Amino acid sequence: MQTMESIVVYFSRGGKTRKVAEAIAQELGCKSVDIKKETPEVSGVDMLLVGSGNYVGKTDKSLLTFLKTLQPSSNKKAAVFATSGGPNPNVISVLQRALEAKGYEVVSSFKCRGRFLFSNRGHPNEEDLKNAKVFARTLKKTTRA
Ligand SMILES: Cc1cc2nc3c(=O)[nH]c(=O)nc-3n(C[C@H](O)[C@H](O)[C@H](O)COP(=O)(O)O)c2cc1C
Repeated sequence: MQTMESIVVYFSRGGKTRKVAEAIAQELGCKSVDIKKETPEVSGVDMLLVGSGNYVGKTDKSLLTFLKTLQPSSNKKAAVFATSGGPNPNVISVLQRALEAKGYEVVSSFKCRGRFLFSNRGHPNEEDLKNAKVFARTLKKTTRA
């Protein structure tokens, strides 16, 4: 069976999304890249995972610029994830649209709460990270189908 190459690329202002990104990467046995520090090489990647905190429904320019400069593709898959203060992070659809604009098939998404001011203290917590790993395991099945 051919090995599927995955990579996790994320923007995290305060470190909550980083925790989720690292849990997902650990489960997939792949690299996680902080877009503030590195521009990832994705040419040989079959599954691109993109995550961000939700900042008034948006992500950071660095992540959007990265998505805009992706080579258009007709055979690559992607998945998106976010942490947020509230229950419905609009940034999920922002990331999804940017990937779809490049021809990526977005197969799945994951979200969980991240501490914000006085709410969601301790999040993402152990259970959130466990759920993120379950999400990652599901993706392994998708890519190998
Ligand atoms: C400037 C700013 C704006 C935010 N706006 C929202 C928002 O509109 N809706 C929401 O649900 N959470 C909002 N949040 C909360 C973040 O999405 C949440 O804390 C997230 O876990 C941050 O991830 P990070 O630690 O990876 O940066 C905001 C946080 C910041 C710092």
